[in-house]
Amino acid sequence: MAVKRNTAYFCQNCGYETSKWLGQCPGCGEWNTFVEEPVVSSKEAKSKDSLGSEMRKRVKLSTISSIKLEQSDRISSGLKELDRVLGGGIVKGSLILVGGDPGIGKSTLMLQVCRSVTSKGKDIIYASGEESLSQIKLRAERLGFFSDSLKLVSETNLNIVESLTIEANPSILVIDSIQTMYSETVSAAPGSVSQVREATGICMRLAKTFGITVFLIGHVTKEGAVAGPRVLEHMVDCVLYFEGDSKGPYRILRGVKNRFGSTDEIGVFEMGEKGLKEVENPSEFMLSGRPENASGSVVACCMEGTRPLLVEIQALVSDTNFGFPKRQATGADFNRLNLLIAVLEKRVGLRMSGSDAYLNIAGGIKVAETALDLGIVTALVSSFRNKVVDKDLMVFGEVGLSGEVRAVSSPQQRVMEAARLGFKKVILPYASLKSVNADGKIRLIGVKSVNDLNF
Ligand code: TYD
Ligand code: MG
Repeated sequence: MAVKRNTAYFCQNCGYETSKWLGQCPGCGEWNTFVEEPVVSSKEAKSKDSLGSEMRKRVKLSTISSIKLEQSDRISSGLKELDRVLGGGIVKGSLILVGGDPGIGKSTLMLQVCRSVTSKGKDIIYASGEESLSQIKLRAERLGFFSDSLKLVSETNLNIVESLTIEANPSILVIDSIQTMYSETVSAAPGSVSQVREATGICMRLAKTFGITVFLIGHVTKEGAVAGPRVLEHMVDCVLYFEGDSKGPYRILRGVKNRFGSTDEIGVFEMGEKGLKEVENPSEFMLSGRPENASGSVVACCMEGTRPLLVEIQALVSDTNFGFPKRQATGADFNRLNLLIAVLEKRVGLRMSGSDAYLNIAGGIKVAETALDLGIVTALVSSFRNKVVDKDLMVFGEVGLSGEVRAVSSPQQRVMEAARLGFKKVILPYASLKSVNADGKIRLIGVKSVNDLNF
């Protein structure tokens, strides 16, 4: 007799589903991530789906020309940095995931958005499964006055939140957090892949059918992804990550997916006594606290979306105590560091094999852009030779395997950002020189190879 299967094994990291337990996930390669969870049969789900017939009535076919775009399709969140990451404001009826480590400030950010959007007369429901109403009030009191258009509920049953939302029909619904919510149709524990998937499905229906913008707050697991992460990411319209060192004041909001705009914009915030403050001049804050007359410290420029951002690169090269040199990169790509060290060994003749090398991008930002290469090389050599780099020098350019310095995008903007912050000299790829017009505001030094750096 065939046994009816009503449980399945789900990878808690990527959501891969199998009928048998597996040691290693074929989807993401993680070990020991499979957990048995009940599965919902579609029949069962349908019978519990109160919205089914209502939804079917609303559905009709459209043509591109018949679709009308409303003027008010985007509303401002009241925080310019958040609007920028979202591509110019909150799109009506979109589903937005805000991920980040616990304690980084996700609830605070959302509450501030609620505060400014409700002050313009729009209704918001904030459903918290994490905190009691009095805990939310304590936090809200630090942030300032809240309008009565913000309605709160402390509830983990998403079906209840769903009916409350349909009844009140607010502009925005905030779910804090998706991992604490459960739906009655799934018997798995909150936070499990099937629950998160079901809960996101309910939110998606609220967003797409009723035009309510839904913000989902999601916690990041130790691997650096939101639990049930890939399950969630493909279902939502925008994925924003809130990063930074939760002990330091600065936070970076990064868009990793955006159906309505570019994804490489960042927003910079500062956490203070009264919540998050926008940082309008991120280059200035990235360079604040720069040591004077210290070797191994160099200022470089990366592009974050459309904005140039000056960052301080710090390198520390010291003698190896054991036979095997240690390398470490914080905020930059580890493999890139190894590659650049190899270039220095081979093309410049720097003997780094007996030295440990540590690299750090100050300010807690992560940069993957190759335009930082020349800065990293300069910092490494500066620390190796113990020679201080001019404090009013900025460096950018990509370094190739033959030690050649290659052109990078937007040289003009990078140079102007350096000029704006009072830098006097820029070392840049020779090939980029002709596309830069500095108007004599700043001295430009074009280099063709790392050997031109005058080590
Ligand atoms: P929170 O928004 O609760 O983080 P998350 O929802 O991501 O877990 O933020 C918690 C931290 O922020 C906590 O350590 C206290 C700090 N904080 C401030 O420093 N200033 C403030 O005004 C507020 C509201 C919080
Ligand atoms: Mg929170």
